[in-house]
Amino acid sequence: MTPLLKVAVVGAGISGLTTARALKIEGHQVVVYEKSDQLGGTWVYNPRVESDPLGLDPNRDIVHSSLYHSLRTNLPRQLMGFVDYPFAIRENGDSGNFPCHEEVLEFLNEFAREFGLVELIRFKTEVVQVELRNDQWIVGSRTNEMTSDEVFDAVVVCVGHHTQPRLDEFSVFMLQKLQGMENWPGKQIHSHNYRVPEPFQDQIVVVIGDGPSAKDISLEISKVTKQVHLSSRSPDIKICKLDCGDNMWQHSKIDHVDGNGEVTFQDGASVRADIILHCTGFNYTFPFLKTEGIVGVDDNRVGPLYKHIFPPQLAPNLSFVGIPYQSGVLFLMIDLQAKWIALVLSGKAPLPSKEEMMADVQEYYRCMDDKGLPKHYTHCLRNEVSQFPKL
Ligand SMILES: Cc1cc2nc3c(=O)[nH]c(=O)nc-3n(C[C@H](O)[C@H](O)[C@H](O)COP(=O)(O)OP(=O)(O)OC[C@H]3O[C@@H](n4cnc5c(N)ncnc54)[C@H](O)[C@@H]3O)c2cc1C
Ligand SMILES: *[C@@H]1O[C@H](CO)[C@@H](O)[C@H](O)[C@H]1NC(C)=O
Ligand SMILES: *[C@@H]1O[C@H](CO)[C@@H](O)[C@H](O)[C@H]1NC(C)=O
Repeated sequence: MTPLLKVAVVGAGISGLTTARALKIEGHQVVVYEKSDQLGGTWVYNPRVESDPLGLDPNRDIVHSSLYHSLRTNLPRQLMGFVDYPFAIRENGDSGNFPCHEEVLEFLNEFAREFGLVELIRFKTEVVQVELRNDQWIVGSRTNEMTSDEVFDAVVVCVGHHTQPRLDEFSVFMLQKLQGMENWPGKQIHSHNYRVPEPFQDQIVVVIGDGPSAKDISLEISKVTKQVHLSSRSPDIKICKLDCGDNMWQHSKIDHVDGNGEVTFQDGASVRADIILHCTGFNYTFPFLKTEGIVGVDDNRVGPLYKHIFPPQLAPNLSFVGIPYQSGVLFLMIDLQAKWIALVLSGKAPLPSKEEMMADVQEYYRCMDDKGLPKHYTHCLRNEVSQFPKL
């Protein structure tokens, strides 16, 4: 019989909580490390924003959550539960279909209490090092200024990936002072640091991005701004006025900016803008992970990872939960990932050999190349490769 393992879970958001529950049910010994003073991760709204609104300063004090104040889920509550734990309407709760973020956090707190997970969590304890030494995983952590090491059989990384801003190639290019961004007199903010519309009152704002945050935030600020100009990277965009508000326009990519505040789009239009809001997504980052290059991040490809979870060389004792995005029903996906890892670690669901797992990853990368998909789409489950796998 496979002995029970001592497993470290890094992070107490949805991924960490479902993983802790699944491991506990399988009889493993679980320690959850959480750097904040409460569970819930992204769903813990924080009105504070970072000192560098673009998130480029490596020495800034990091705020984990990117939630804005008005956020409601983009899936109905029926799809926000776990496999065997539905997202029910609370007694005095909101009866709307798309719950507000406070309700999601309450749901997670109830889940954690009900399954006895709170007592497994070491709050205010940040993992600063995860390293394999002589077949054992050493987890280094910091509480206040105290650091300590503890030995584990396995580690599950559940740290989320919506905290470190990512900028599009154009903005990075401009920031490298090649195209006048240093002379641009306006403000620049990444959506990570957007909370409420008030600071946008009477401003002319250019929003870069095509994702849900770009659309959501544009609509919200358009109620107070003078104008909103949405700049999309998709190639077939024509300049047009959007019918969702009388002060919103759609544009192609930005072509250049200049010292008098003017932003010129590739479609030829230009506006004198006060603020550029970058809704350009996030970078994966695992600063604590020391695997001597066995698993790493290259242009937002975390890998190699078998099925977005197990690095073949270090499986099953190192794994990742919550890496995919645009995966449809995220909470269910995360719950299933957690349950799979727990079963693999207790020996009930053996993985293929290292070689087979590696071949599977290589095949996936090859299909992406064939379709011309860039690396940073690796974990987007809405890309053509993962939606239509070869049968
Ligand atoms: C603006 C926004 C809106 C979203 N809306 C939806 C939605 O409507 N529906 C939906 O399904 N999903 C939505 N998402 C996706 C959201 O990320 C997931 O719902 C979910 O929060 C992912 O959970 P997670 O546990 O993987 O990561 P997180 O929630 O990010 O949790 C990670 C945890 O790890 C902790 N941590 C990080 N590093 C360390 C460390 N070194 N040591 C210790 N602890 C650490 C963090 O403090 C945090 O508590 C949204 C995301 C964003 C940014
Ligand atoms: C995973 O950890 C267990 C328990 O420490 C150990 O017996 C096993 O050999 C490890 N597996 C690998 C592939 O390193
Ligand atoms: C994000 O990752 C990309 C690709 O690895 C990198 O070039 C960039 O500097 C990172 N940071 C930002 C803010 O884009």
